[in-house]
Amino acid sequence: MKNILVTGGAGFIGSNFIKFALQNSDYNIINFDKLTYAGNLENLSDISGDKHYTFVRGDICEKEDVVKVITGKKIDTVVNFAAESHVDRSILGSREFVHTNVMGTQNLLDISMKSDVSKYLQVSTDEVYGSLPEDMKEIKFTESTPITTNSPYSASKASADLLCNAYYHTHKFPVLITRCSNNYGPYQFPEKLIPLMIAKATDGEKLPVYGDGKNVRDWLYVEDHCSAIFEVLHKGNAGEVYNIGGNNEWYNIDIVKLILKLLGKTEEQITYVKDRPGHDRRYAIDSSKIQKELGWTPKHKFDEGISKTIGWYKKNESWWRKVMSGEYLNYYEKNYSTKL
Ligand code: NAD
Ligand code: TYD
Repeated sequence: MKNILVTGGAGFIGSNFIKFALQNSDYNIINFDKLTYAGNLENLSDISGDKHYTFVRGDICEKEDVVKVITGKKIDTVVNFAAESHVDRSILGSREFVHTNVMGTQNLLDISMKSDVSKYLQVSTDEVYGSLPEDMKEIKFTESTPITTNSPYSASKASADLLCNAYYHTHKFPVLITRCSNNYGPYQFPEKLIPLMIAKATDGEKLPVYGDGKNVRDWLYVEDHCSAIFEVLHKGNAGEVYNIGGNNEWYNIDIVKLILKLLGKTEEQITYVKDRPGHDRRYAIDSSKIQKELGWTPKHKFDEGISKTIGWYKKNESWWRKVMSGEYLNYYEKNYSTKL
């Protein structure tokens, strides 16, 4: 591995991954991003001058853009983070999700294979496994849990995974798939639960909790996701799927209460709103395969990770205020006007 193409590197996890890779290797990292509403080059301003880092603006769905960057930069490894990533937006409209997440992945796979890329890693999600029963804590998603998608977002991510699998089996193209649980940490766009609640709490606004607040998510600090992807790139076997998770299940309502407590605010700010349609009840990852086979373990305990994250949002208020203006306001109005 020498020249790694990181697609979607201007987003939340991609930007954290690029910094992690630059700190832990001397690979050349080529960040290839369309810069949608979720892509922000400010996330990378501290490393933009690094001699091992290059940014190329482009669209994974566009053949010419992808051919140009893969051949021009002599790419040997592709890590695909680029996606439409928010469930609520996929409910408001799924077209862009199918286009980017499915067609974009197909385009990347095809061109990578024809250009003799020697490793392709697809960053997927635990949401492809559907929803777990709330009262059976012993049941978690394993790599052999059947794919059962309930949102347009998860359906598009699962479709991409199936294409990856097909390229491995049909063409022997060396594809790896990772499926991670919910991430949190610096640079997450404040449309997702944790940063949205931090922003609303800071501003003394109502914190909109969907349904009864008893949906469960398994939270992992973003840097631990990045280190897991690094392990899979180095030690993973082609054609395999690796689950990544924090063994850290929380009810949404308890996360919201914790954020309020850590910010010194009262629970009066909480408001229960109409539920998300098709809302998956519980996600929980069994990550024993990556732990046993590749020796990965998460380094961040949740209490440390969440305090660090809140500290980051406090310090970087101008970052989130900027991304919450403009396009974000239209989305917020559309999503929450039917719920509140
Ligand atoms: P994000 O929405 O913050 O970032 C997505 C990035 O992709 C943005 O920079 C955007 O500009 C870019 N992008 C979108 N369409 C593009 C296109 N056509 N061509 C090139 N770039 C494009 O997403 P994220 O939360 O960082 O998630 C990254 C990946 O990880 C996604 O594939 C997501 O499905 C997966 N994932 C996310 C989580 C999570 O908790 N956030 C958990 C598991 C897996
Ligand atoms: P989210 O961050 O959108 O991630 P995902 O849906 O991909 O798991 O949401 C996390 C959980 O928080 C999910 O159960 C939905 C819930 N949620 C709310 O209750 N209120 C909100 O305003 C948002 C954005 C999410």
